[in-house]
Amino acid sequence: MTAPHALPEPGWPTREGARDARLVQPGSLGPCSARTRTGVPAMVPWRATDEGFVTPAVLDWYGRFADGKPGVLVVEATGIRDVPSGPLLRIGHDRFLPGLRDLVRVVHARSEGETRLLIQIIDFLSIRRRPQRERFLRQFLGLREAHRVALAALAGHAAAAAGDEASVREALVSLSDDELRGVLDERELEALERGARERVTDTHLPHVAELPRVLPGLFADAAARAQDAGFDGVELHFAHAYTMASFLSRRNDRDDGYGGSREGRVRCPREVTEAVRERVGAGFTLGCRLLGDEVIEGGSRVEDAAWYSVELARAGLDFVSVSKGGKFEDAKVPRVGEAIYPYTGESGHECMPTVRIGDPGPFGRNLPLARGVRDALRAAGLATPVVGAGGIGTFAAAEQALGRGDCDFVGAARATLADPDWFLKAEQGRGTQVRRCIYTNYCEGLDQRHKEVTCQLWDRDLERNDPGRDSVQRTRDGKRRLVAPPGSASPPLPPPSARCASKGG
Ligand SMILES: Cc1cc2nc3c(=O)[nH]c(=O)nc-3n(C[C@H](O)[C@H](O)[C@H](O)COP(=O)(O)O)c2cc1C
Ligand code: SF4
Repeated sequence: MTAPHALPEPGWPTREGARDARLVQPGSLGPCSARTRTGVPAMVPWRATDEGFVTPAVLDWYGRFADGKPGVLVVEATGIRDVPSGPLLRIGHDRFLPGLRDLVRVVHARSEGETRLLIQIIDFLSIRRRPQRERFLRQFLGLREAHRVALAALAGHAAAAAGDEASVREALVSLSDDELRGVLDERELEALERGARERVTDTHLPHVAELPRVLPGLFADAAARAQDAGFDGVELHFAHAYTMASFLSRRNDRDDGYGGSREGRVRCPREVTEAVRERVGAGFTLGCRLLGDEVIEGGSRVEDAAWYSVELARAGLDFVSVSKGGKFEDAKVPRVGEAIYPYTGESGHECMPTVRIGDPGPFGRNLPLARGVRDALRAAGLATPVVGAGGIGTFAAAEQALGRGDCDFVGAARATLADPDWFLKAEQGRGTQVRRCIYTNYCEGLDQRHKEVTCQLWDRDLERNDPGRDSVQRTRDGKRRLVAPPGSASPPLPPPSARCASKGG
């Protein structure tokens, strides 16, 4: 294991020193202007109801981020379909609107109108938990003639292979793992050892074949609901392990015009972008998050991301947010009963890098990808802003990223989870009060287990004899603080003349 990288010197500015910093200047994401170039990227906190509704805990989670008045706050990946998906937010039906409207109201109120609120909208394909071996072979496996043939070739199994379905299944159960590998095909083995997972290339499945026909409408409907609920914009989730990123992947070899070449791979995301833009009009901010590099064998690289970004910006995007990795292909084998988690392999480690990652360490690690995308957009004559993220947790690092031209907005997910007031504290010359993220991914471990996400640093005062500790709102297991500790009273922000224009038409 790599020795942990030390946290960088924070280089906190004085209040006067911060005043002229690029980070605290207004910035535009299309029609929406933000007070500063600070952003909180999407983070799933596992606080929605099992039916996907906003809960008081969701309101507290986003309200607490809003207290810190980031320029832009992106709500977690929110499902566009009207199908059960566990405690993840959903926007696939009008019944979700009242809760989403509350969410908008809370964020706008607690940020005193200073934070622009976007919602990330996502589609994902079916993925099943890793099954028990016997259950899989007796129940889930679809028997094929090829199984009988392979079984008959194994010593002692010819009679069972010629028998009824039950005898074939029992014979399969009795095989050693090595023998079974010779009987099952690659996808069946994957279903057994990792849990079945659909891919966009499974065009033999009618609902997968028709994705390019249904997704534009589903995304457009979801975006229209976001607009109706009062969000300032939407971010299309074209990143990580999910449907749209899989269309963009170099591994997408669909032969129906929606895969193969770069033009084919970008076609579905482009048609989604066009459909959403047509539905929400020019006055609503529309961006996407995509991968600067998939970090898997045969996957897309920054040249692809740069090319896609130009295409998608021309199709109507107002910004591009650049992430990295987070794929199923290289994820760790899950335990029986658990689902594969796309942040456990190398690509996952690149997505949320920790202090244990190899050189040059996690800090600003993914900015070269944002830079590659931004350079391509500028070379194409497009001013589309780019959001960079990944290990940015100091004012100096954020300022340097903007100064070098790596990005136009700085996203900080875990640093803002650790201390939702950190941007504000830095801007106000109170940087020494920041509770700094230590990038060890305790929070990500909770996400992996679908537990309420919290930060390990929030609980320090719970361990001490804090007089208010009994009244602190806690997680279901009663052990952890559910919301970041309250911030101390802060000096007022600069006068309105130095702030951004309000949202444009
Ligand atoms: C708990 C948790 C949940 C996340 N959920 C999402 C998500 O819903 N959508 C997304 O695009 N990225 C998600 N991410 C990735 C972050 O947005 C961000 O890209 C990543 O953490 C790297 O940035 P950072 O170093 O500033 O944390 C999540 C990260 C964490 C830690
Ligand atoms: S749990 Fe660890 S990695 Fe996550 S935000 Fe807190 S300090 Fe950072």
